[in-house]
Amino acid sequence: MPVEITAAIDVSAAAIVVSAKSRCRRLKWKRLFRQRLWQRFRKPLPLWKRSPRFRKNPLPKTIHTILIPEKESSDRLVHMRKHLGTCLLLAAGLQMLSAAPRILVHGHRGARAMRPENTIPAFNYAIDVGVDFLEMDVAVTKDNVLVVSHDPHMNPEICTGPHPGIAIHEITLRELREYDCGTLKNPRFPKQQPVPGTRVPTLDEVLNLSRRGTFQFNIETKSYPDHPELTPPPDVFAKMMLDEIRKHKLESRVIVQSFDFRTLRAMKRLAPDIRLVALWEGDTRPFVEIAREGEAGIISPYYPLVTPEQVQASHAAKLEVVPWTANTPQDWQKLIDAGVDAIISDDPEALIAFLKKKGLR
Ligand code: G3P
Ligand code: CA
Repeated sequence: MPVEITAAIDVSAAAIVVSAKSRCRRLKWKRLFRQRLWQRFRKPLPLWKRSPRFRKNPLPKTIHTILIPEKESSDRLVHMRKHLGTCLLLAAGLQMLSAAPRILVHGHRGARAMRPENTIPAFNYAIDVGVDFLEMDVAVTKDNVLVVSHDPHMNPEICTGPHPGIAIHEITLRELREYDCGTLKNPRFPKQQPVPGTRVPTLDEVLNLSRRGTFQFNIETKSYPDHPELTPPPDVFAKMMLDEIRKHKLESRVIVQSFDFRTLRAMKRLAPDIRLVALWEGDTRPFVEIAREGEAGIISPYYPLVTPEQVQASHAAKLEVVPWTANTPQDWQKLIDAGVDAIISDDPEALIAFLKKKGLR
């Protein structure tokens, strides 16, 4: 009886299913099968295929079919089964290699451990060391320009200028540019190298860096339900961000994060395809519940809140877990053991070196 052996390899799940059914054609199955498997798995997945978006919609199952000539099929079947085992073992091995977990790295405020936070030098540094994401915070000036700053006020600890502590939303971009945010060294980061004369960048300037690679952007709306005077209303803020993202055609390379879920929900209504991140630092609550509240596909908790159980439940709900902001090998290891998808760190260079040593990059 003619035989067709079909091996279906699910690239995302490392599952291999074999079925045999009748039909026929030609043999050379062993070489063909090995060849096909090798072609399929020899190259590492390109970066875009390793992205969270891709992982959510993995490749369809790859079907490998081996066709046996009718006249040979019956006596060859026994022989074939033996070799099929070898092939499947080989496939499983290659599959395991190709599916080795890869922890993505987000450079927090660029690379705050090395350069003044949320500045072009910090973002360039992070790009140079090979981050997957640039993490940044966004505020809005009085003349409605999106600028990259963690604090809603000109923080006198890291910026010098005419009115220390003034609200960014009370000054124009021209006034904001009078402040130097590169001279004062952040005492919390001894390795940080000052870059005197560095100004607060606009989001436009930071998104222009997209030409430097294929990394992505993790952009936080710094919006405060208790302080509406510091930002535009959430829907306006979300629309401004979306316009900027679209201007740069970066919809597929941006994730939008916030503690203020009003901005996430507003973004969801405006552009359902933009990936959203629910930030969390409060009580221990199910991550799944928090993400649902923010209508987000990614949960980004303060890193000590991460447990293997929370990560498992999140993954079961098809959520990614991206904790912030872990800066020591001990904390990185705990997060890796818990199964997180990415880690946000002030020192992405050290984190990348750590992951490489562990074979996780
Ligand atoms: O990406 C999350 C993290 O940046 C949130 O904390 O205060 O540094 O913006 P914060
Ligand atoms: Ca942030």
